[in-house]
Amino acid sequence: MTSTGTPRTARLLPGGPVAEAVLADVAARTAALRRAGVVPSLATILVGDDSASVGYIRMKQQRATELGFASPHTQLSGTASQADLVRAISAYNDDPGVHAILVQHPTPAQIDYPAAISAIDPDKDVDGLHPENLGRLATGQPGPVPCTPAGIEALLAFYEVPVAGRDVVVLGRGTTLGRPLSLLLSQKRSTADAAVTLVHSGVPGWDRHTRRADIVVAAVGVPGIVRPEHLRPGAVAIGGGVRYAGRRLLPDLDETCAEVAGAITPRVGGVGPTTVAMLFRNAVELAERLTARSAQV
Ligand SMILES: NC(=O)c1ccc[n+]([C@@H]2O[C@H](COP(=O)([O-])OP(=O)(O)OC[C@H]3O[C@@H](n4cnc5c(N)ncnc54)[C@H](OP(=O)(O)O)[C@@H]3O)[C@@H](O)[C@H]2O)c1
Repeated sequence: MTSTGTPRTARLLPGGPVAEAVLADVAARTAALRRAGVVPSLATILVGDDSASVGYIRMKQQRATELGFASPHTQLSGTASQADLVRAISAYNDDPGVHAILVQHPTPAQIDYPAAISAIDPDKDVDGLHPENLGRLATGQPGPVPCTPAGIEALLAFYEVPVAGRDVVVLGRGTTLGRPLSLLLSQKRSTADAAVTLVHSGVPGWDRHTRRADIVVAAVGVPGIVRPEHLRPGAVAIGGGVRYAGRRLLPDLDETCAEVAGAITPRVGGVGPTTVAMLFRNAVELAERLTARSAQV
């Protein structure tokens, strides 16, 4: 509540405008590659026919086409083995016309997803999740950065949320989001350079950290886990973690957080659109790097 008794309403930080700006840059770069005779190519692999995953792949292919990418696709049956998946990955690894490879997550139970990611050529790893790329991130070397963390850094920069020197608390240490985000925002760069604290299920009373943070990023996947009493009034709250109940998206940030936060991502259209945009930014960067390298040999 404000001093006049009306509920505070945080400034919203939608991801759509951030994604538009990123994708405009991607489109200009794919056009430049095409003018140089290179068709950037993002290959996708889907194991099974989970309806949400089929929808995501369709959306990514449509976006790819709009942005000027080729988008070859391999569809494997829901009973495909790890060896079948690795064979499909290897075929794209060996294809010089393919610059970026995406294995759609989640995969069926018989598939070891981390092992599949490790089978991707690190220089074609569009999700930035290959151990070599996570190592590049940890050591500050150039390479594809996991898309959701990269999207969150871009979102904070777009809305000119000060990050350098501020206290950022990331809740969740998962490999796709919390841990790489903690590495990214602690890098030496004006849009990062933060004092990052990473908390998780091994930290009882993690709210003693979030309650003093300038920026809290929820990266858990437990709906409503972050509540207003976990935030310092005026803090920036970023909702990365989500769970789906059917088609309904259930975010980590309880909606009442908007009454305490100074700025917050919306329930729908927050971090998600920036993740997709960063996928294509990674794809065009991989195409540029591989093209530059093949020109040198
Ligand atoms: N918006 C997007 O585009 C996007 C993209 C990617 C991922 N996501 C979402 O982001 C979330 C995280 O993804 P991920 O792959 O990193 O997940 P993950 O590997 O499952 O990591 C979840 C983390 O949350 C922690 N955690 C679980 N319950 C907790 C609790 N009660 N208190 C404190 N910490 C708790 C876990 O702790 P332990 O390590 O101790 O188990 C773990 O570190 C998921 O909801 C995912 O759907 C969103």
